[in-house]
Amino acid sequence: MYSLTWKTMAMAALVLQLCFLMLVESSLSHSDKISELPGQPRVGFRQFSGYVTVNVKKKRSLFYYFVEAEVDPASKPLVLWLNGGPGCSSLGVGAFSENGPFRPKGEVLVRNEYSWNREANMLYLETPVGVGFSYSTDSSSYEAVGDEITDCCLLRWTCTIILLWFLKVKRRNSEYMLQYQSRDNLVFLQRWFLKFPQYRHRDLFITGESYAGHYVPQLAKLMIQFNRKEKLFNLKGIALGNPVLEFATDFNSRAEFFWSHGLISDSTYKMFTSVCNYSRYVSEYYRGTVSPLCSRVMNQVSTETSKFVDKYDVTLDVCISSVLSQSKIINPQQVAETIDVCVEDETVNYLNRKDVQKALHARLVGVRRWAVCSNILDYELLNLEIPTISIVGSLVKAGIPVLVYSGDQDSVIPLTGSRTLVHRLANELGLNTTVPYRVWFEGKQVGGWTQVYGNILSFATIRGASHEAPFSQPERSLMLFKSFLEGKPLPEVF
Ligand SMILES: *[C@@H]1O[C@H](CO)[C@@H](O)[C@H](O)[C@H]1NC(C)=O
Ligand SMILES: *[C@@H]1O[C@H](CO)[C@@H](O)[C@H](O)[C@H]1NC(C)=O
Repeated sequence: MYSLTWKTMAMAALVLQLCFLMLVESSLSHSDKISELPGQPRVGFRQFSGYVTVNVKKKRSLFYYFVEAEVDPASKPLVLWLNGGPGCSSLGVGAFSENGPFRPKGEVLVRNEYSWNREANMLYLETPVGVGFSYSTDSSSYEAVGDEITDCCLLRWTCTIILLWFLKVKRRNSEYMLQYQSRDNLVFLQRWFLKFPQYRHRDLFITGESYAGHYVPQLAKLMIQFNRKEKLFNLKGIALGNPVLEFATDFNSRAEFFWSHGLISDSTYKMFTSVCNYSRYVSEYYRGTVSPLCSRVMNQVSTETSKFVDKYDVTLDVCISSVLSQSKIINPQQVAETIDVCVEDETVNYLNRKDVQKALHARLVGVRRWAVCSNILDYELLNLEIPTISIVGSLVKAGIPVLVYSGDQDSVIPLTGSRTLVHRLANELGLNTTVPYRVWFEGKQVGGWTQVYGNILSFATIRGASHEAPFSQPERSLMLFKSFLEGKPLPEVF
């Protein structure tokens, strides 16, 4: 009798505790619920946004925007989307220009018919801190040691010593930054699951583009390591769009792309492949030591390609400011490429409205305005040169399906470099071709080409698409995304 009462009481306590936890968690996620974004059309799915603190001591908080699937979210996977840069916003670029449910147009938001939340619950993360609405109130998190050198120049030698010390510290901090970036992303997801426990063991995919060719594999690798201790992340695959995977191969495929698309002459092509290639130029550029030789070649290349051609889509007219903003970082140009026509970008205007920020539960901390790409983040750009293709290989070996896809009009990370890298990786891993190089269809038209290795490593192009494929080819991109989630080969017939 006694023991029964005890058991009952213990049970009751447990139930109470669980209820309490659930209440706390649901109230948390409720407080992040967006009742409505200013100017949005009526929709049937729920949206959430807000902050997850990833480091209490350094007061680092990451901002997310989460859109549930249009139909039956409980049966659909969870997909994390990350934009590149490094330092560009997944909210502004990914959600509001590429594959999110809305696109800003003047004062209102219009529906994107090919939003990826037709197939999945989409989570957009602004990362690392310093990007978009994500912030740290401890500015050392992104400003490294900014003010140490302001009044240092009493004596030349003191200045030199301090400068050397500064550079060393800066370098060290930057290495931490790389750590921060993927560790913070991992911690973010762990804590985000506390707000959304129903997604905890959901099928999870990580997707992203451009410099996310670094972020995504690094995060996936951390998840696999974490899962050895505690099986938390139900990682089912990663997809990388026009990704930076191996610096030299990716960057040097640009010359042939320019040349074959008529952007440079035969003689300039020759110089761009023999006198100074693009990887060498970028290496010199980021070390602040551009040689006269490379300078001459790049001037010629820039003159011929012209600044009025969008390098992220050589067939598209210029002026997609979010696209161009990414260019400053992974597409450095000696000849200043100021495309001011794009300052009036719709997304920038929209996300800087006070009513929009209020609806999003967003705060501006340490910055005056929301920007597409961070102005304050001090990212170690030489990390660009560290290959991540080997991490992709280790993921495949661990059984994680990988899709590398390319918008085929992009000259920044051209399809040819990515295709070479995937093919080379398949060879290294001893994966045979399971789907031979062939076209795939969307509607009655060719959506692009694809090849699959060992039923786990896939390459696909999206015909007529830019660096930001879902922006310029939304319908084809959605088809690719759907096939990727279902683990099915792309349609062979129509
Ligand atoms: C690019 O230039 C570097 C330095 O001159 C050289 O080592 C490398 O082989 C070149 N790559 C290609 C693809 O031409
Ligand atoms: C790949 O193909 C080769 C040659 O046909 C064959 O010997 C090998 O067993 C295949 N490997 C796998 C993993 O199927």
